[in-house]
Amino acid sequence: MNTVILDATPENISKCAALIRKGEVVAFPTETVYGLGANALDADAAAKVFRAKGRPATNPLIIHVADKSQIDAVAEVSDDARRLIDGFMPGALTLVLPKRGGVPDIVTAGYDTVAVRMPDHKVALDLIREAGVPVCAPSANTSARPSPTRASHVYDDLKGKIPAILDGGMCPLGLESTIVDMTKTPPKVLRAGAVEIDSVAEVIGDLDTEQVMVDTLAALKIPTNYVPKAELVFSAFYDNMSEVIARYYDSNVLTHGARPVIFCMNFNADKYGSRNVMLMGESVAEYAKLLFERIREAENLDYNLIIAEGVPMGGMGTTVLSRLIKLSGGKVI
Ligand code: TXA
Ligand code: MG
Repeated sequence: MNTVILDATPENISKCAALIRKGEVVAFPTETVYGLGANALDADAAAKVFRAKGRPATNPLIIHVADKSQIDAVAEVSDDARRLIDGFMPGALTLVLPKRGGVPDIVTAGYDTVAVRMPDHKVALDLIREAGVPVCAPSANTSARPSPTRASHVYDDLKGKIPAILDGGMCPLGLESTIVDMTKTPPKVLRAGAVEIDSVAEVIGDLDTEQVMVDTLAALKIPTNYVPKAELVFSAFYDNMSEVIARYYDSNVLTHGARPVIFCMNFNADKYGSRNVMLMGESVAEYAKLLFERIREAENLDYNLIIAEGVPMGGMGTTVLSRLIKLSGGKVI
């Protein structure tokens, strides 16, 4: 199959909406990462998403909507869920809710719950609205690869496997949505993401966050976790972090002939002298936004070892740390 990259013009959005209505899959930008979308009410179309990504059938998809009322058609919405929908959607928050009939089992991997979100991205919203159906979409990477934040990342992973990629430029947030399971009491955070957990707790009170990091580690046992082409390790947030990293860098060059690169905050770059560095911005938020992008860049530059600076826990720091744990397989230096 030939894969075309289409600029996100109104004509091309219409073309892609027509493909979705016909039961095809299309990659599209959201504010978090690129998604690989299909008609969520069409089991055959959803099956194509799993096939293109090589995704295990046991891992359910998020349903994306263009309008809050579309959520009520696929899920039962409690009062707390309604408050979160009103407070955060459109936005990078995904809610797991009791599923209504009409959503094919393949989409929810047989669970009686369904994950829903309304992306805060004009191209995504226009596409879903024009398709006229809710759109199930995982991140548009090959299973076990980092999520794509540019159309070219999707192309690198899925060329020949999908008909079209809508190119809306770089995703503004650069990492996936926060997922909260509203069917649990208290509601349980399943994934730390682009919306801070504390801001969700401000709206509905107590959240079960105990397992955010534990689950991230447990996930390492299933085949859906990240496999960067370059090995990744990260430093805990020590006082002498840059010394720990520099030492690890040098010893790997000497003993293993590695070609390492350090992911560091801009203001730390000087501490690494002439060693290879890639800059992660001035803040934890920028680090979060650039992480997946820099990993793919590092791979394309043939670095085979990424040594990433840690960040303080809390807020987006929690999200970044949960991704670093997954990406590294838990390898802390
Ligand atoms: O930002 C995002 O969430 C992106 C964009 C494209 O929207 N999507 C995304 O999808 O990251 P995906 O499939 O890569 O990750 C969705 C996660 C999976 O870990 C899946 O197990 C979980 O959501 N999930 C989906 N439905 C669920 C359900 N009914 N119960 C529990 N977890 C669910
Ligand atoms: Mg994913």
